[in-house]
Amino acid sequence: MGEWQVQDVLTAEQFSRDELELVLHAARRLAGALCSGSVLQTMRGKILATLFFEPSTRTRLSFEAAMLRLGGQVVSVAEAKSTSAAKGESLEDTIRTVEGYADLMVLRHPEVGSAHAAAAATHRPVINAGDGAGQHPTQALLDLYTIAEEKGTVDGLTVGLVGDLKHGRTVHSLCQVLSRYDVRLLLVSPDELRMPTDIVGDLQEAGGKVEQTDDLQAAVSACDVLYMTRIQRERFPDPSDYERLKGAYVLTEELLARGHELTVMHPLPRVDEIDPGVDKLPGAAYFRQSANGVPVRMALLSLIGGQISRSGDSGVPTVV
Ligand code: NCD
Repeated sequence: MGEWQVQDVLTAEQFSRDELELVLHAARRLAGALCSGSVLQTMRGKILATLFFEPSTRTRLSFEAAMLRLGGQVVSVAEAKSTSAAKGESLEDTIRTVEGYADLMVLRHPEVGSAHAAAAATHRPVINAGDGAGQHPTQALLDLYTIAEEKGTVDGLTVGLVGDLKHGRTVHSLCQVLSRYDVRLLLVSPDELRMPTDIVGDLQEAGGKVEQTDDLQAAVSACDVLYMTRIQRERFPDPSDYERLKGAYVLTEELLARGHELTVMHPLPRVDEIDPGVDKLPGAAYFRQSANGVPVRMALLSLIGGQISRSGDSGVPTVV
């Protein structure tokens, strides 16, 4: 396994297989430490800023829980309207300001490319927690971890990504992460919500096994893992298009009867794409998946935190 060099986490594409394996390895160790009740101090004396300009439950809280579990501290913005962005401040100026308060930052923002812009504005590490309909790389890390934990392997699996593949940033990132493994990908969506062609093109160019379909039933039979997603209402310029496409795919117990070995995942929140009757099935992994956000984000923060200390760039003077 290689050495960790990463500071900014901006896209899923940036991760080599070695780096992904490092995250999985560290996350497993940290999950074990959490279970045994060990008190960890890896991030003691460091402050994480979580800057969320779009709604979030899981991503923000699991990042904050991860930082606290590592002995670090957190300052947080939970909504855009409570920041100076509401007064017209640019993202770059906000980031330059936060640089004075925190050692690293997690950013969620409605604009594609915002994390890159933030990273260019500061020497502090920036972690992309979702940039509009762009990327959500840390979700992809916890999704990868969940697949590995649920299935005992990633190589050799057939994984179906279902729903709004056009606007869904989690699936954009996940298929890039999975392309580092020997995975067959089934992309299941209505025609209008297909995975962006540049992403599919990159996957195919890299020799990936990728198929596109609109047939959920066929995917249930063919897949080892089915990753459901919400139709992303907030990304539709015309609400009538959302009304027409919502409910395109609903996973029910009856449908799953044909694929009982299936692991069902979802980044959450769900609206109606997984019937609550599915929750009791052993393969329903979505709440285990959201819980995995803590050890995986602990792993990521620790690996990046190690980089900060190594470069002596904690921003916190040592008081003797
Ligand atoms: C996702 C997101 O924000 O992109 N949620 C998450 O981070 N767990 C998925 C979604 O909102 O549909």
